Amino acid sequence: MSKKPTKKQDVATTGHSWDGIEEYNNPLPKWWLYTFYACIVWGIGYTVAMPAWPLLNGATPGLLGASTRADVAAEIARYDAANEGVEAKLVAADLTEISADPELANFSQNAGAAVFRTWCAQCHGSGAGGQQSLGYPNLLDQDWLWGGSIEDIHFTVTHGIRNEDDPEGEARFSQMPAFGKDELLTDEEIAQVVQYVRKLSGQEFDSAGLGDGETLFIDNCASCHAEDGTGDRAQGAPNLTDAIWLYGGDVETLTETIYNARYGVMPNWNTRLSEAEIRAVAAYVHSLGGGE
Ligand code: HEC
Ligand code: HEC
Repeated sequence: MSKKPTKKQDVATTGHSWDGIEEYNNPLPKWWLYTFYACIVWGIGYTVAMPAWPLLNGATPGLLGASTRADVAAEIARYDAANEGVEAKLVAADLTEISADPELANFSQNAGAAVFRTWCAQCHGSGAGGQQSLGYPNLLDQDWLWGGSIEDIHFTVTHGIRNEDDPEGEARFSQMPAFGKDELLTDEEIAQVVQYVRKLSGQEFDSAGLGDGETLFIDNCASCHAEDGTGDRAQGAPNLTDAIWLYGGDVETLTETIYNARYGVMPNWNTRLSEAEIRAVAAYVHSLGGGE
Protein backbone atom coordinates (compact mmCIF):
# COMPACT_ATOMS: atom_id res chain seq x y z
CA MET A 1 0.00 0.00 0.00
CA SER A 2 1.36 3.38 -0.93
CA LYS A 3 2.03 6.02 1.65
CA LYS A 4 -1.07 7.96 2.56
CA PRO A 5 -1.30 11.01 0.35
CA THR A 6 -1.48 14.00 2.67
CA LYS A 7 -0.88 16.92 0.40
CA LYS A 8 -3.64 18.54 -1.45
CA GLN A 9 -2.02 18.18 -4.82
CA ASP A 10 -1.46 14.36 -4.36
CA VAL A 11 -5.14 13.54 -4.14
CA ALA A 12 -7.50 13.42 -7.06
CA THR A 13 -10.80 15.22 -6.59
CA THR A 14 -14.21 13.90 -7.47
CA GLY A 15 -14.68 16.88 -9.71
CA HIS A 16 -17.41 18.24 -7.43
CA SER A 17 -16.86 21.82 -6.53
CA TRP A 18 -18.98 24.19 -4.44
CA ASP A 19 -17.96 27.79 -4.46
CA GLY A 20 -14.40 26.65 -5.06
CA ILE A 21 -14.45 24.02 -2.31
CA GLU A 22 -13.51 20.70 -3.90
CA GLU A 23 -14.26 17.18 -2.73
CA TYR A 24 -11.21 14.88 -2.39
CA ASN A 25 -11.57 11.39 -3.71
CA ASN A 26 -9.91 9.68 -0.73
CA PRO A 27 -10.23 5.87 -0.68
CA LEU A 28 -12.23 4.40 2.25
CA PRO A 29 -9.99 3.01 4.99
CA LYS A 30 -9.48 -0.72 4.43
CA TRP A 31 -10.53 -1.72 7.97
CA TRP A 32 -13.80 0.12 7.46
CA LEU A 33 -14.43 -1.37 4.03
CA TYR A 34 -13.81 -5.01 5.15
CA THR A 35 -16.01 -4.55 8.21
CA PHE A 36 -18.70 -3.22 5.91
CA TYR A 37 -18.42 -6.26 3.59
CA ALA A 38 -18.42 -8.58 6.59
CA CYS A 39 -21.64 -6.95 7.85
CA ILE A 40 -23.32 -7.54 4.51
CA VAL A 41 -22.32 -11.21 4.52
CA TRP A 42 -23.42 -11.59 8.15
CA GLY A 43 -26.70 -9.81 7.40
CA ILE A 44 -27.54 -12.16 4.54
CA GLY A 45 -26.60 -15.17 6.65
CA TYR A 46 -28.77 -13.89 9.51
CA THR A 47 -31.88 -13.49 7.38
CA VAL A 48 -31.41 -17.04 6.11
CA ALA A 49 -30.88 -18.53 9.57
CA MET A 50 -33.41 -16.50 11.58
CA PRO A 51 -37.02 -15.35 11.02
CA ALA A 52 -36.63 -12.17 9.00
CA TRP A 53 -38.47 -11.33 5.82
CA PRO A 54 -42.07 -10.26 6.37
CA LEU A 55 -44.63 -12.22 4.36
CA LEU A 56 -48.39 -11.75 4.13
CA ASN A 57 -48.89 -14.00 7.16
CA GLY A 58 -45.96 -13.92 9.54
CA ALA A 59 -42.38 -14.01 8.25
CA THR A 60 -39.82 -16.42 6.75
CA PRO A 61 -39.14 -18.94 9.53
CA GLY A 62 -35.35 -19.18 9.14
CA LEU A 63 -33.25 -22.35 8.99
CA LEU A 64 -32.60 -22.49 12.75
CA GLY A 65 -36.31 -22.54 13.55
CA ALA A 66 -36.04 -19.89 16.28
CA SER A 67 -39.44 -18.61 17.55
CA THR A 68 -40.00 -16.48 20.63
CA ARG A 69 -43.67 -17.44 20.48
CA ALA A 70 -42.76 -21.14 20.72
CA ASP A 71 -40.38 -20.28 23.60
CA VAL A 72 -43.24 -18.64 25.49
CA ALA A 73 -45.56 -21.58 24.78
CA ALA A 74 -42.87 -23.96 26.05
CA GLU A 75 -42.39 -21.86 29.19
CA ILE A 76 -46.14 -21.88 29.84
CA ALA A 77 -46.29 -25.63 29.27
CA ARG A 78 -43.40 -26.06 31.72
CA TYR A 79 -45.25 -24.05 34.38
CA ASP A 80 -48.50 -25.88 33.70
CA ALA A 81 -46.72 -29.20 34.10
CA ALA A 82 -45.09 -28.02 37.33
CA ASN A 83 -48.48 -26.87 38.71
CA GLU A 84 -50.48 -29.87 37.56
CA GLY A 85 -50.14 -31.71 40.85
CA VAL A 86 -51.14 -28.86 43.12
CA GLU A 87 -53.98 -27.81 40.79
CA ALA A 88 -55.43 -31.32 40.84
CA LYS A 89 -55.16 -31.29 44.62
CA LEU A 90 -56.87 -27.88 44.77
CA VAL A 91 -59.78 -29.05 42.62
CA ALA A 92 -60.19 -32.22 44.69
CA ALA A 93 -59.97 -30.48 48.06
CA ASP A 94 -62.92 -29.44 50.14
CA LEU A 95 -63.27 -25.65 49.75
CA THR A 96 -63.09 -25.08 53.49
CA GLU A 97 -59.81 -27.01 53.75
CA ILE A 98 -57.85 -24.82 51.34
CA SER A 99 -56.79 -22.18 53.84
CA ALA A 100 -55.59 -24.77 56.36
CA ASP A 101 -53.36 -26.62 53.88
CA PRO A 102 -50.08 -24.68 53.54
CA GLU A 103 -49.40 -25.91 50.00
CA LEU A 104 -52.89 -25.05 48.72
CA ALA A 105 -53.05 -21.78 50.63
CA ASN A 106 -49.70 -20.68 49.25
CA PHE A 107 -50.60 -21.67 45.70
CA SER A 108 -54.00 -19.93 45.94
CA GLN A 109 -52.39 -16.75 47.19
CA ASN A 110 -50.09 -16.53 44.19
CA ALA A 111 -52.28 -17.96 41.45
CA GLY A 112 -55.40 -16.28 42.87
CA ALA A 113 -53.72 -12.88 43.02
CA ALA A 114 -52.59 -13.30 39.39
CA VAL A 115 -56.11 -14.25 38.28
CA PHE A 116 -57.47 -11.28 40.23
CA ARG A 117 -55.09 -8.81 38.59
CA THR A 118 -55.98 -10.14 35.14
CA TRP A 119 -59.73 -10.65 35.38
CA CYS A 120 -61.20 -8.86 38.37
CA ALA A 121 -59.20 -5.70 39.01
CA GLN A 122 -60.78 -3.68 36.20
CA CYS A 123 -64.07 -3.72 38.09
CA HIS A 124 -63.17 -4.41 41.72
CA GLY A 125 -59.97 -2.33 41.76
CA SER A 126 -56.40 -3.63 41.88
CA GLY A 127 -56.54 -3.69 45.67
CA ALA A 128 -60.05 -5.25 45.63
CA GLY A 129 -61.41 -2.09 47.24
CA GLY A 130 -64.20 -1.80 44.68
CA GLN A 131 -65.43 1.30 42.90
CA GLN A 132 -68.30 3.03 44.58
CA SER A 133 -70.76 4.85 42.34
CA LEU A 134 -70.25 2.18 39.71
CA GLY A 135 -71.65 -0.49 42.03
CA TYR A 136 -68.51 -2.65 42.05
CA PRO A 137 -68.36 -3.85 45.62
CA ASN A 138 -65.41 -3.66 47.94
CA LEU A 139 -64.26 -7.24 48.58
CA LEU A 140 -62.08 -6.37 51.57
CA ASP A 141 -64.76 -5.58 54.11
CA GLN A 142 -67.18 -7.70 56.12
CA ASP A 143 -70.18 -6.41 54.22
CA TRP A 144 -71.32 -9.07 51.76
CA LEU A 145 -74.18 -8.83 49.34
CA TRP A 146 -74.35 -12.53 48.61
CA GLY A 147 -72.24 -14.01 51.40
CA GLY A 148 -68.60 -14.11 52.43
CA SER A 149 -67.96 -17.78 53.17
CA ILE A 150 -65.58 -19.53 50.80
CA GLU A 151 -68.51 -21.51 49.36
CA ASP A 152 -70.54 -18.32 48.75
CA ILE A 153 -67.62 -16.58 47.08
CA HIS A 154 -66.85 -19.64 44.98
CA PHE A 155 -70.46 -19.77 43.80
CA THR A 156 -70.57 -16.04 43.01
CA VAL A 157 -67.36 -16.22 40.99
CA THR A 158 -68.37 -19.39 39.16
CA HIS A 159 -71.83 -18.27 38.04
CA GLY A 160 -71.69 -14.49 38.33
CA ILE A 161 -74.56 -12.14 39.11
CA ARG A 162 -77.51 -11.15 36.89
CA ASN A 163 -75.78 -12.30 33.71
CA GLU A 164 -77.51 -14.29 31.00
CA ASP A 165 -74.40 -16.23 30.00
CA ASP A 166 -74.00 -18.80 32.72
CA PRO A 167 -74.36 -22.13 30.87
CA GLU A 168 -75.98 -23.68 33.94
CA GLY A 169 -78.33 -20.70 34.31
CA GLU A 170 -77.34 -20.38 37.95
CA ALA A 171 -76.19 -16.78 38.00
CA ARG A 172 -77.29 -15.12 41.23
CA PHE A 173 -80.39 -13.14 40.53
CA SER A 174 -82.70 -10.59 42.12
CA GLN A 175 -84.18 -7.37 40.89
CA MET A 176 -85.09 -4.31 42.87
CA PRO A 177 -88.20 -2.61 41.44
CA ALA A 178 -87.76 0.82 39.84
CA PHE A 179 -90.11 2.56 42.26
CA GLY A 180 -90.17 5.92 40.48
CA LYS A 181 -89.85 4.96 36.83
CA ASP A 182 -92.52 2.28 37.16
CA GLU A 183 -94.73 4.59 39.24
CA LEU A 184 -94.89 2.34 42.28
CA LEU A 185 -94.21 5.33 44.53
CA THR A 186 -94.73 9.04 43.99
CA ASP A 187 -91.81 11.46 44.03
CA GLU A 188 -92.92 12.67 47.46
CA GLU A 189 -93.02 9.11 48.83
CA ILE A 190 -89.55 8.45 47.41
CA ALA A 191 -88.25 11.60 49.10
CA GLN A 192 -89.69 10.35 52.40
CA VAL A 193 -88.26 6.85 52.11
CA VAL A 194 -84.87 8.38 51.19
CA GLN A 195 -84.94 10.25 54.50
CA TYR A 196 -85.84 7.02 56.26
CA VAL A 197 -82.85 5.23 54.69
CA ARG A 198 -80.67 8.14 55.83
CA LYS A 199 -82.04 7.60 59.33
CA LEU A 200 -81.51 3.82 59.17
CA SER A 201 -77.89 4.30 58.17
CA GLY A 202 -77.22 6.68 61.03
CA GLN A 203 -76.79 9.71 58.81
CA GLU A 204 -78.21 13.19 59.13
CA PHE A 205 -81.83 13.26 57.98
CA ASP A 206 -84.60 15.77 57.63
CA SER A 207 -87.22 14.82 60.25
CA ALA A 208 -89.81 17.13 58.71
CA GLY A 209 -89.40 15.38 55.35
CA LEU A 210 -89.53 11.90 56.86
CA GLY A 211 -93.35 11.72 56.73
CA ASP A 212 -94.50 8.13 56.19
CA GLY A 213 -90.96 6.96 55.40
CA GLU A 214 -90.97 4.14 57.91
CA THR A 215 -94.32 2.70 56.78
CA LEU A 216 -93.35 3.06 53.15
CA PHE A 217 -90.15 1.18 53.89
CA ILE A 218 -91.87 -1.66 55.72
CA ASP A 219 -94.47 -2.01 52.96
CA ASN A 220 -92.18 -1.72 49.94
CA CYS A 221 -88.65 -2.49 50.93
CA ALA A 222 -88.60 -4.80 53.92
CA SER A 223 -89.32 -7.93 51.87
CA CYS A 224 -85.78 -7.64 50.52
CA HIS A 225 -83.88 -5.29 52.82
CA ALA A 226 -85.53 -6.68 56.02
CA GLU A 227 -87.64 -4.63 58.43
CA ASP A 228 -84.60 -3.37 60.28
CA GLY A 229 -82.84 -2.60 56.98
CA THR A 230 -80.02 -5.09 57.45
CA GLY A 231 -80.58 -6.70 54.06
CA ASP A 232 -80.95 -10.25 52.83
CA ARG A 233 -78.10 -12.20 51.34
CA ALA A 234 -80.40 -14.73 49.71
CA GLN A 235 -81.51 -11.88 47.45
CA GLY A 236 -78.28 -9.90 47.34
CA ALA A 237 -80.13 -7.00 48.97
CA PRO A 238 -77.57 -4.78 50.68
CA ASN A 239 -77.53 -3.88 54.33
CA LEU A 240 -78.72 -0.27 54.49
CA THR A 241 -77.85 0.31 58.14
CA ASP A 242 -74.08 0.44 57.78
CA ALA A 243 -71.84 3.10 56.34
CA ILE A 244 -70.84 0.85 53.45
CA TRP A 245 -72.50 1.77 50.19
CA LEU A 246 -72.55 0.00 46.89
CA TYR A 247 -73.75 3.09 45.03
CA GLY A 248 -73.80 5.80 47.67
CA GLY A 249 -75.73 7.07 50.68
CA ASP A 250 -76.17 10.75 49.84
CA VAL A 251 -79.69 12.00 49.13
CA GLU A 252 -79.12 12.37 45.40
CA THR A 253 -77.70 8.86 44.91
CA LEU A 254 -80.35 7.26 47.14
CA THR A 255 -83.08 8.98 45.15
CA GLU A 256 -81.55 7.78 41.90
CA THR A 257 -81.23 4.20 43.25
CA ILE A 258 -84.84 4.08 44.44
CA TYR A 259 -86.28 5.89 41.41
CA ASN A 260 -84.57 3.82 38.69
CA ALA A 261 -83.22 0.81 40.64
CA ARG A 262 -79.83 -0.66 39.80
CA TYR A 263 -78.97 -3.87 38.11
CA GLY A 264 -75.38 -4.74 38.96
CA VAL A 265 -74.08 -7.40 36.59
CA MET A 266 -71.03 -9.55 37.14
CA PRO A 267 -69.90 -12.03 34.49
CA ASN A 268 -69.81 -15.77 35.10
CA TRP A 269 -66.27 -17.14 35.10
CA ASN A 270 -66.94 -20.85 34.55
CA THR A 271 -66.56 -20.43 30.79
CA ARG A 272 -63.34 -18.40 31.02
CA LEU A 273 -61.38 -19.78 33.94
CA SER A 274 -60.52 -23.34 34.95
CA GLU A 275 -61.97 -24.75 38.15
CA ALA A 276 -58.49 -24.51 39.71
CA GLU A 277 -58.28 -20.81 38.81
CA ILE A 278 -61.78 -20.11 40.18
CA ARG A 279 -60.91 -21.88 43.42
CA ALA A 280 -57.60 -20.04 43.68
CA VAL A 281 -59.18 -16.62 43.20
CA ALA A 282 -62.09 -17.45 45.53
CA ALA A 283 -59.61 -18.50 48.23
CA TYR A 284 -57.58 -15.36 47.54
CA VAL A 285 -60.64 -13.08 47.90
CA HIS A 286 -61.73 -15.01 51.00
CA SER A 287 -58.30 -14.42 52.56
CA LEU A 288 -58.37 -10.65 51.94
CA GLY A 289 -59.85 -9.80 55.30
CA GLY A 290 -63.62 -9.94 54.87
CA GLY A 291 -63.83 -13.71 54.48
CA GLU A 292 -66.17 -15.54 56.80
C1 HEC B 1 -67.51 -6.35 34.73
C2 HEC B 1 -67.23 -6.05 36.09
C3 HEC B 1 -66.84 -7.17 37.03
C4 HEC B 1 -65.80 -8.06 36.90
C5 HEC B 1 -64.79 -8.16 35.77
C6 HEC B 1 -65.80 -8.86 38.10
N1 HEC B 1 -66.83 -8.48 38.91
FE1 HEC B 1 -67.25 -9.24 40.73
N2 HEC B 1 -68.90 -8.05 40.86
C7 HEC B 1 -69.29 -7.10 39.92
C8 HEC B 1 -70.51 -6.46 40.35
C9 HEC B 1 -71.26 -5.36 39.62
C10 HEC B 1 -70.87 -7.07 41.58
C11 HEC B 1 -72.07 -6.72 42.45
C12 HEC B 1 -73.33 -7.21 41.85
C13 HEC B 1 -74.52 -6.94 42.75
O1 HEC B 1 -74.95 -5.79 42.82
O2 HEC B 1 -74.99 -7.91 43.37
C14 HEC B 1 -69.83 -8.06 41.87
C15 HEC B 1 -69.83 -8.87 43.00
C16 HEC B 1 -68.81 -9.75 43.32
C17 HEC B 1 -68.78 -10.57 44.51
C18 HEC B 1 -69.88 -10.62 45.56
C19 HEC B 1 -69.59 -9.63 46.64
C20 HEC B 1 -70.59 -9.69 47.76
O3 HEC B 1 -70.59 -8.73 48.53
O4 HEC B 1 -71.30 -10.69 47.91
C21 HEC B 1 -67.61 -11.29 44.48
C22 HEC B 1 -67.12 -12.27 45.53
C23 HEC B 1 -66.92 -10.94 43.28
N3 HEC B 1 -67.66 -10.00 42.59
C24 HEC B 1 -65.70 -11.45 42.89
C25 HEC B 1 -65.15 -11.25 41.63
C26 HEC B 1 -63.96 -11.95 41.15
C27 HEC B 1 -63.14 -12.92 41.96
C28 HEC B 1 -63.75 -11.52 39.88
C29 HEC B 1 -62.67 -11.98 38.90
C30 HEC B 1 -62.63 -13.38 38.60
C31 HEC B 1 -64.78 -10.54 39.56
N4 HEC B 1 -65.60 -10.41 40.65
C32 HEC B 1 -64.88 -9.85 38.36
C33 HEC B 1 -68.61 -6.79 38.78
C34 HEC B 1 -67.49 -7.46 38.28
C1 HEC C 1 -86.99 -7.33 45.28
C2 HEC C 1 -86.04 -6.96 46.27
C3 HEC C 1 -85.88 -5.49 46.62
C4 HEC C 1 -86.81 -4.57 47.02
C5 HEC C 1 -88.30 -4.79 47.19
C6 HEC C 1 -86.11 -3.34 47.30
N1 HEC C 1 -84.77 -3.51 47.05
FE1 HEC C 1 -83.35 -2.10 47.29
N2 HEC C 1 -81.96 -3.37 46.51
C7 HEC C 1 -82.22 -4.67 46.13
C8 HEC C 1 -81.02 -5.22 45.52
C9 HEC C 1 -80.88 -6.62 44.97
C10 HEC C 1 -80.06 -4.21 45.54
C11 HEC C 1 -78.63 -4.33 45.02
C12 HEC C 1 -78.36 -3.39 43.91
C13 HEC C 1 -78.47 -3.92 42.51
O1 HEC C 1 -79.58 -4.26 42.05
O2 HEC C 1 -77.44 -3.92 41.81
C14 HEC C 1 -80.69 -3.06 46.19
C15 HEC C 1 -80.05 -1.85 46.44
C16 HEC C 1 -80.60 -0.82 47.16
C17 HEC C 1 -79.89 0.36 47.54
C18 HEC C 1 -78.43 0.68 47.23
C19 HEC C 1 -77.60 0.49 48.49
C20 HEC C 1 -76.15 0.88 48.31
O3 HEC C 1 -75.34 0.32 49.07
O4 HEC C 1 -75.82 1.72 47.47
C21 HEC C 1 -80.77 1.15 48.23
C22 HEC C 1 -80.50 2.48 48.86
C23 HEC C 1 -82.02 0.45 48.25
N3 HEC C 1 -81.87 -0.75 47.60
C24 HEC C 1 -83.16 0.92 48.85
C25 HEC C 1 -84.40 0.34 48.70
C26 HEC C 1 -85.61 0.94 49.14
C27 HEC C 1 -85.72 2.25 49.86
C28 HEC C 1 -86.62 0.09 48.79
C29 HEC C 1 -88.11 0.29 48.99
C30 HEC C 1 -88.67 1.50 48.47
C31 HEC C 1 -86.02 -1.06 48.17
N4 HEC C 1 -84.66 -0.86 48.11
C32 HEC C 1 -86.70 -2.18 47.75
C33 HEC C 1 -83.39 -5.36 46.28
C34 HEC C 1 -84.59 -4.80 46.63
